[in-house]
Amino acid sequence: MKRNGLPVFTFATALAVVLALPLSAHAQAADLYKAKCAMCHGADGKKAAGHDFTSADVQKKSDADLTAVITDGKAPKMPKYGDKLKPEEIKGLVAYIRTLK
Ligand code: HEC
Repeated sequence: MKRNGLPVFTFATALAVVLALPLSAHAQAADLYKAKCAMCHGADGKKAAGHDFTSADVQKKSDADLTAVITDGKAPKMPKYGDKLKPEEIKGLVAYIRTLK
């Protein structure tokens, strides 16, 4: 009996890790957004004047455009995050902005 316990446990653990990964990446992006972006852009993405993340104007921009603004910033008020966040984190934030539309 003892011998059978281990493989089942290992399989269940591997499955749990695989299932949890995409979820945690999204939760991480949501936390990052709340911590670093929401004070200017609003929790729902609608706050920054003229740059409502839920609008067609922002949503029609490519992932590359949004990534560039987050990475390099935009004068005068949008800070640059290229040196503060990892590329995967910025990618997660772009994906998060897509969920706000
Ligand atoms: C200090 C306030 C501030 C913070 C903090 C901030 N932003 Fe911005 N952001 C702005 C402003 C203002 C603009 C509009 C810039 C412009 O075009 O004049 C902007 C523009 C943008 C745009 C481009 C939207 C468009 O219309 O092209 C994106 C994408 C963006 N911000 C994402 C983020 C993300 C993601 C974070 C958090 C990591 C963040 N911002 C944090 C103020 C801020």
